[in-house]
Amino acid sequence: MYLNGTKLTWLGHAAFRVETPGGKTVLIDPWLKGNPACPESEKEVKKVDVMLCSHGHSDHIGDAVEIAKKHNPVVVGMVELCAWLQSKGVKQASGMNKGGTANILDLKITMVHASHSSGIQDGDRLIYGGEPAGFVMEFSNGLKIYHAGDTCVFGDMAIIGELYKPDIAMLPIGDYYTMSPREAAYACSLLKPKTVIPMHFGTFPILTGTVAEFRKLVKDAEVFEMKPGVTVS
Ligand code: NI
Ligand code: MN
Repeated sequence: MYLNGTKLTWLGHAAFRVETPGGKTVLIDPWLKGNPACPESEKEVKKVDVMLCSHGHSDHIGDAVEIAKKHNPVVVGMVELCAWLQSKGVKQASGMNKGGTANILDLKITMVHASHSSGIQDGDRLIYGGEPAGFVMEFSNGLKIYHAGDTCVFGDMAIIGELYKPDIAMLPIGDYYTMSPREAAYACSLLKPKTVIPMHFGTFPILTGTVAEFRKLVKDAEVFEMKPGVTVS
């Protein structure tokens, strides 16, 4: 995997920390405290400048409000999801929508389609969180990373591949709530990344997809298995 100065840490499940070439810290899908795949040493966030939230499910935004209140990052997510975060006291929530690009600090963030759901569990109420999304991040060193969020495979991943040409794709492979290795391998053939990082597997027993199975099915991309808490640069 070629990162050209960008640093990547998997925090387990769909959560990642990315350090930009300019030294900014991006946190994607912050679910750490209750996340059994997150190492103890990573449960307390030390620094975050930008936080991306793909959708409203608790295994993606579980710690978003607490972290945002403590560190005051720019929070990027779907309009309705950001409105809910704001109602919970998040100051810099930047609600956007699919197809748009936000220029924040030293990176460009494009919100792209994901096919899933996005209800927010708020106490005993289920709140409409807008549509779920994925993100393409472009760094000042030219590196492009696509984080798919939770999704099934869809044909327009070919458009994401053609338009944004992601070097790295982070794809869910766990099955049941998202793609399994079979669909994720097909997604790779549409996206054509150089490297694919599997995520959203093994966290709970029901997420049965494995990297070994995924590896067998992927052609023409490097499958890079990250270890939670280990930074790759
Ligand atoms: Ni979800
Ligand atoms: Mn999920």
